[in-house]
Amino acid sequence: MCGIVAYTGKRNIIDTLIDGLRRLEYRGYDSAGIAVLDKNKITTVKSVGKVQSLVDKITPAMKKELSKGKIGIAHTRWATHGIPSEPNAHPHLDEKCRFAVVHNGIIENYALIKEHLIGKGHKFLSETDTEVLPHLIDDCYEGDLLQAVAAALKKINGTFGIAVISSEHPEQIVTARKGSPIVIGVGENETIIASDISAIISYTDKVIFLNDNDIALIDKDKIDLRNIDNVPVSREIAHIDWDPGSAEKGGFEHFMLKEIFEQPDAIANAIRGRLDESLGTGTLSGLNLSAHDLVSVNRIIIAACGTSLHAGMVGEYFFEDLADIPTEVEQAAEFRYRNPIINPGTFILAISQSGETADTLAAVREAIQKGATVAGICNVVGSTIPRETGRGVYLHAGPEIGVASTKAFTCQVAVLLMMALKFGRSRRLSRQTGIELVAEIKRIPDLVRKVIATAKDIEKVAKKYAQAKDFFFIGRGYLYPVAIEGALKLKEISYVHAEGYHAAELKHGPIALLDENVPVLAMANNIPGKDKIIGNMQECKARKSPVIAVATEGDEEIRKHADDIIWVPECSQYTVPIPSVVALQLLSYYIAKERGCSIDQPRNLAKSVTVE
Ligand code: F6R
Repeated sequence: MCGIVAYTGKRNIIDTLIDGLRRLEYRGYDSAGIAVLDKNKITTVKSVGKVQSLVDKITPAMKKELSKGKIGIAHTRWATHGIPSEPNAHPHLDEKCRFAVVHNGIIENYALIKEHLIGKGHKFLSETDTEVLPHLIDDCYEGDLLQAVAAALKKINGTFGIAVISSEHPEQIVTARKGSPIVIGVGENETIIASDISAIISYTDKVIFLNDNDIALIDKDKIDLRNIDNVPVSREIAHIDWDPGSAEKGGFEHFMLKEIFEQPDAIANAIRGRLDESLGTGTLSGLNLSAHDLVSVNRIIIAACGTSLHAGMVGEYFFEDLADIPTEVEQAAEFRYRNPIINPGTFILAISQSGETADTLAAVREAIQKGATVAGICNVVGSTIPRETGRGVYLHAGPEIGVASTKAFTCQVAVLLMMALKFGRSRRLSRQTGIELVAEIKRIPDLVRKVIATAKDIEKVAKKYAQAKDFFFIGRGYLYPVAIEGALKLKEISYVHAEGYHAAELKHGPIALLDENVPVLAMANNIPGKDKIIGNMQECKARKSPVIAVATEGDEEIRKHADDIIWVPECSQYTVPIPSVVALQLLSYYIAKERGCSIDQPRNLAKSVTVE
């Protein structure tokens, strides 16, 4: 998804903008560009493809010339309106080249605005919605950059995170947001603006998160914050404790592998200080729910997308089994457009690694609007969902850079289990059962460590099946969402067609697709439902499908029913989703590697999906 960087300060402007863009590469993009302002002149360089192609276009002579500038903006674009091409890449300018704009988001009424401006003599060069912005700013300009940008933004419908420079104001940057994140990094005599703190943390740990409809003027190192109606606003300076080094690969071939391997630590961080061993409960103070609030909840709706949705599906089992609370899991995109029924006592849980997913954020806003109590389970500190819900739980998983979500999923499931325990203990769950569960939760990092120790064995299985064109993943109960998540991991990074199915549903249609070329991965761990899944595995073998079982260590019996086995340590049904999904993450990783795929940045995908 698109990324923004803007800088004013003493560092080399080209190096700083390019460094920022590289740190945003993980988000996924298809073209990139920069604009540098020097002596009332804006110069742009754009290129299709990777940031490296942009770097290759900047000759040493150009770099020397451009480096005289002290202010610049830069962008990685993920195409929405118009193909990936140089004219469509940002920054966009008005025809007099007085205003340059980078923009994340979508301008819904751009076609009308464009028509109007063409009528006034403006000439457009791209197919993008963004290009209307510099023209509109030019149209509104009466000598004050901030006022012109604010006036232009008032005319557009849609979402934006923007940074603007102007040849008329050689020391100013204007930035603003609505529905698309903007963070201002406040350094010593320098300011770096970005759509994501990854581009900022190596320069400063002091940041200001803009709220929707905030607009800021950065003039040298002074920051003037207002809302779009020109009323001054104040925003706290937050301190970010992410270690810049933790966003690097740390010796692993891919971020995804690094993130799979760091799950024991990530989960330990997610549970640290959140369990009360003597009361047998989860603490999770960020939920901000009193004992009375906890018992007043009579229904939970979980809204999320993709992998976070699958974590929510595991959560549904937790809340029903441990807390007796009827729970529904909703695709956030559906929740926002249906007319969800929210009664007093309905508790909405939005799960999002990035905290910025457009559909999940819209679901949160819809729920808040309907008066519901809404909490977030998010990883990125200070992102929009936790700020808007004002209550919730951070994962503390550290930055997740690989596009395919891994450690966020396991930490989400761990947090959901602690949350269900907390709700359960406020109801009929006994102290003794609570204490036993706390002990099980504390074992999770070790369970995951044991699976990771078998990575080489999983790699062998992966190599055997890497050329399959289709795959089925089947599971039941707590392992049904895990099967779906396993299939998602495989399809997104290896481009192998994979379907996650409830094991019992297979015979209601998809079984027609099975033959010797279609392997079936069956979640056959030793938990309730195992006998039934063995029956389903036999159904698959009868159709000649090779069967891979994920099974509990020591379960020799399973060898009779499977061609290959991936072992997971013995554990209860509550914790089993976590080590089991780690085995599937490794399987997908090694299949994708064997197929030579771009693992950290799969085609067509973006790390955070900030458009509908
Ligand atoms: C899959 C994946 C996506 C995200 C989804 C939601 O590996 O990463 O399916 O889970 O786009 O993103 P968040 O959790 O940031 O809301």
